[in-house]
Amino acid sequence: MGAARDERWRTEMRLTVNVRNVFTDVVGADHGVTRQQINGLLPRFETIRDDIETRRKRGELPFLDLPKQDVRPILDYVRSERDRFDTFVVVGIGGSALGNIACHTALRHPYHNFLPANRRGGMRVEVPDNVDPDRLSGLFDTLDLRRTLFDVITKSGSTAETTSTFLVIKERLQTAVGAKWRDHVVVTTDPKSGDLRKYATHEKIAAFDIPPGVGGRFSVLTPVGLLSCAASGIDIEELLAGAGDMEHRVRTTPIEKNPAYVSAAIHYLLYNHPKSPKRLAVMMPYSHALKDVADWFRQLWAESLGKEKSLDGRTVNVGPTPIKALGATDQHSQVQLYIEGPNDKLFTFLEVGRFQKDVTFPDDPDLRHLNAFNYFGGKTMGQLLHAEQKATTLALTRRKRPNITITLPDVRPYTVGQLFMLLEIQTVVTGGLFEINPFDQPGVEAGKVATYALMDRPGYEEEKKKIEAEMAAGEQFVL
Ligand code: PA5
Repeated sequence: MGAARDERWRTEMRLTVNVRNVFTDVVGADHGVTRQQINGLLPRFETIRDDIETRRKRGELPFLDLPKQDVRPILDYVRSERDRFDTFVVVGIGGSALGNIACHTALRHPYHNFLPANRRGGMRVEVPDNVDPDRLSGLFDTLDLRRTLFDVITKSGSTAETTSTFLVIKERLQTAVGAKWRDHVVVTTDPKSGDLRKYATHEKIAAFDIPPGVGGRFSVLTPVGLLSCAASGIDIEELLAGAGDMEHRVRTTPIEKNPAYVSAAIHYLLYNHPKSPKRLAVMMPYSHALKDVADWFRQLWAESLGKEKSLDGRTVNVGPTPIKALGATDQHSQVQLYIEGPNDKLFTFLEVGRFQKDVTFPDDPDLRHLNAFNYFGGKTMGQLLHAEQKATTLALTRRKRPNITITLPDVRPYTVGQLFMLLEIQTVVTGGLFEINPFDQPGVEAGKVATYALMDRPGYEEEKKKIEAEMAAGEQFVL
């Protein structure tokens, strides 16, 4: 980000978190928290903060230092490739895909891929994020392989969805461009370990490193997310500047006023509310641009906090269930349930200060006599969406449903960078309160192992026998 962004601009672009509607004086003692309860967590927060600082100094929390990374290799690579390619395909899943999708939806034109090259400001970006054969075949129908660059992203280098898709891509590329297929692939993986790294080194394929110690769901600000962002024209320096400023803010703000710590406390206390626990966490952006940030957060929150064991080995089976919703769309789908159904949710609204291109409603003389139309004239669609958000917030609050509002003054790299870092640190702090390890995912690994066994990966023969026996026992229950 150019040095042009001065202190005043940064202050204007500062993200805010409004927690008023979680307190007992607003939503009642049966559904809210008190300042005293949050203050009661202060000693634990001191320990968590010290622990984060100690681990960070030992190099164990490298995601916190990502804002300081040197992005020149990424920018140089994109500069060298951008005239040859017009489409950039991200091949990855989970933490190796969701951050990319979130960034593109938030920070590019809503119809980026449909715009002509001279109006796009970068390559088209596609992220299939699955191994559904129809989806992949459909994608190939749209691609000119001679102008397509594939970024194969996998931290472990062995995730079945990604390695299997790579086989298909390689074959298609070989058919389309022959021996030049290597020039159409870049890999993003662990710097040393894993089969993908081994293969890329052997074949001299361009490669970027995922810093060791940064897990998939914390990797959006590594080359995992930054490469596709730079390829499509997103200002990655500004994205990192926002993340860096939020990291500094969280590290230096007293805990009682700290957006990450106070939000973590609210989630933890309401999850454990003695009368009416809030086991579900709904994130509801009122901005289509932020809809996939809610998807990214869903994975971050679920994989980090959903755990069987505590740090000291107790069986705890904790974890709030994250739900993504979208305003105003889900007002006509979910909000009835949210307002009148079980009061078991904590809501987080994502609000934007202003929209990139607002639309003004015309004052149409033909429709002035009809009340369904005549009050819009001169107002904007942004005003309408804001009004709908306020109305939903109000309705939930009146029904004693606790809710938080995070406001981004504008949706741009600087504010989205702040949001990523805020939610990542909030996740780690909440993990500290739950006394679990937010960085592992033994449940996901178990699924990966079963997939390897079912697909006959060498070394998984015994596992396959066990699974087949279990499946045979289940057959009699098929209706
Ligand atoms: O957050 C995580 O660690 C996971 O969601 C991974 O990102 C996901 O399983 C993909 O793993 P990999 O990048 O090793 O292919």
